[in-house]
Amino acid sequence: MGEIVRLQKYIAMSGAASRRAAETMIDEGRVKVNGKTVGEQGVKVEIGADKVMLDGKELKIKEKKYYIMLNKPTGYVSTVKDQFDRPTVIDLVGGEIGTRIFPVGRLDYDTEGLLLLTNDGAITHKVTHPKFHTDKTYIAVISGGISVSGLHKLRHGVKIDNYKTAPADVEILDTSATKTMLEITIHEGKNRQVRKMFDAVGCKVIGLQRTRIGNIELGNLPLGRWRHLTSHEVNYLKNL
Ligand code: URA
Repeated sequence: MGEIVRLQKYIAMSGAASRRAAETMIDEGRVKVNGKTVGEQGVKVEIGADKVMLDGKELKIKEKKYYIMLNKPTGYVSTVKDQFDRPTVIDLVGGEIGTRIFPVGRLDYDTEGLLLLTNDGAITHKVTHPKFHTDKTYIAVISGGISVSGLHKLRHGVKIDNYKTAPADVEILDTSATKTMLEITIHEGKNRQVRKMFDAVGCKVIGLQRTRIGNIELGNLPLGRWRHLTSHEVNYLKNL
């Protein structure tokens, strides 16, 4: 659903007239909404859904675009609505954005970290479509260790489902007696790809966090919090 505004505001937003002048135009019977002449003030319209015409010419408004990054906690689904009524990432952004935004791709319910949200479909396409090769970096914690041959396989591509992954960049960050922390950068975004890649080399992922999409970094944004992308970050995404 688009933003809902008063008709005279819509006319002013389209650049056709000031709000005052728009009110006069409505009084003069020059404005139609969805084919019907508007006879009174106070009518509301939905941007992007209702068709507003002035003197027979359609007035269009470019919907304001929002670009947001969220540090998604585990326990949230990356969809707008969940069939099992689990909390969604949209719940975390709340009603603070006056229009509908959508997650760009997905993070699993049990994965945390960097998730982009926007109402700009072109950006969603660029970040998620394999042909743009937008790298994604994750910190994975696996239980136990990983063999040299396991690392080698991840770095050269492994078979998951019926697909061979592109070579990944993989580095060990830390090891302990019971677990290993690695950084892995992949070039595609198959469903549960990182977990499946580790599975394919006999390792179980017990924690997963996305830290980077292309050049966009999660940085020190606290878990569960969101912020608008900077104009620099937005331009980077547009130029992918
Ligand atoms: N890979 C996974 O396994 N899970 C995610 O959420 C993202 C990438």
